[in-house]
Amino acid sequence: MGELYNRLKEYSQSDYYPFHMPGHKRQNITDLNPYSYDITEIDGFDNLHNPEGILRIAMDRASKMYGTERTYFMINGSSGGILTAISACTKKGDKILVARNCHKSVYNAIYLNELEPVYIYPEYIEEFGINGGIKPECVRAALEENADIRAVVITSPTYEGIVSDVKSIAGIVHSHNIPLIVDEAHGAHFSMHDELPETAVLCDADVVIQSMHKTLPALTQTALLHLNGNIVNRDRIEKYLGIFQTSSPSYVLMASMDECFDILLNDGEKMFEGYMSRMKTLNEYLKEFTHLKFTDSSLKGKYGVFDVDISKIVVSCRGTGYTGAEMYRELLDRHHLQLEMASGDYVIAMTSVMDTQEGLLRLFKALADIDRHIRVYGNKNNNLNYGEYDYRMEKAVVVKKISDISDCKTETMRLDIAQGKISAEYIYLYPPGIPVVAPGEMVTGEIVMLLRRYMDSGLTIHGLKDKKCENIEVVKEEFKTLVFRKE
Ligand SMILES: Cc1ncc(COP(=O)(O)O)c(C=O)c1O
Repeated sequence: MGELYNRLKEYSQSDYYPFHMPGHKRQNITDLNPYSYDITEIDGFDNLHNPEGILRIAMDRASKMYGTERTYFMINGSSGGILTAISACTKKGDKILVARNCHKSVYNAIYLNELEPVYIYPEYIEEFGINGGIKPECVRAALEENADIRAVVITSPTYEGIVSDVKSIAGIVHSHNIPLIVDEAHGAHFSMHDELPETAVLCDADVVIQSMHKTLPALTQTALLHLNGNIVNRDRIEKYLGIFQTSSPSYVLMASMDECFDILLNDGEKMFEGYMSRMKTLNEYLKEFTHLKFTDSSLKGKYGVFDVDISKIVVSCRGTGYTGAEMYRELLDRHHLQLEMASGDYVIAMTSVMDTQEGLLRLFKALADIDRHIRVYGNKNNNLNYGEYDYRMEKAVVVKKISDISDCKTETMRLDIAQGKISAEYIYLYPPGIPVVAPGEMVTGEIVMLLRRYMDSGLTIHGLKDKKCENIEVVKEEFKTLVFRKE
């Protein structure tokens, strides 16, 4: 067996518990050998790019479940859906209103379509150091100021489970006769239980993209693109689906989506009833912790937060002297719990309907252990590492269009002295894949410091060509030669 197979086999038999995607949590949904049903578009199995048979039926069933006019299966994740939606809703060079905390696929769509983004910024939740929601009034103001905006794209929920008031935003966007695209990559499970936030699909968004693999029992890369209303041209969506999706869609992935809907239709109600009850109990216990803090529904109504997805366990160690990377490592090394991500001073445990009572209990016990042993130097309310990793997105200084950077002359310089330069590269933590700097933006002193702190705390910075993150490519400044004329 190849080394990768060996490693995966060994890992699947270990006691490491997954608090990360995919949402099937490595449980056996089927005993079928994937090789035995990995086929291509042979007779009787339809064609994803022109579905008229079994795939049409499967997608129509999904559309009915979510309450959409059309639902498309995607086999290269929400990334493909986002590229499709933005490309279909804009023409080359258009202006687009973009929430600055969007995933990098949104920035890739901006680049490919040479769009001019107008950014709106999420609120900032200082007590957790995470982004809040996008306020409808920000959308209104931006649209009133820029009458030539052709589409709006926001992320709701965020990686941390923060949901914006999509319905109000949709009303504002539609009053300008333009479409609202919602990246709901982390919300494919919302429709499955009344106590989860309302899906953007039912809040009048025109295009909604969801990763099934993140929060539902489906294989990695599976996603959905939902279409509603008549603002967005369906032919354009289908044209771009044909461009951004492979011409050889995997039947293993498509069968996994169909199987997921089968499970949800037959047993979903009971499964989600149990899951929600387990999560509510866990949340009640987590409230009792002394040092660690957890996001919960008390954030609703503040910081632009319309709702909170309790399936995301956001554990903040802000003010404790601990870093997110330390907590992440301790959970992994000592407790064999693999979390989804670590940031400066928080970590995220992703749960799904497939999590077992035993798994959740292991997480609770491990966190309780950390909470008990946190060494707080002095008063627990002191400001140890409080705000050290704060970064408010509204400080991004946009100097050039992302697509213009490819035509600029660039030079490589040390990151720690790049303050004031215009970046020709992305810089982001992955996850969540939200740029701290996008090409064309100024590298500020605050960003240099933040990146240094991230690296010192053991987090990996992505986007830079220099994998050691010591150097950055910046736009070369052209100095005009001054010619002094002799009088
Ligand atoms: C908010 C958000 N949108 C889009 C994506 C891309 O999703 P996918 O990995 O399914 O392509 C991600 C991935 O993490 C994400 O966090």
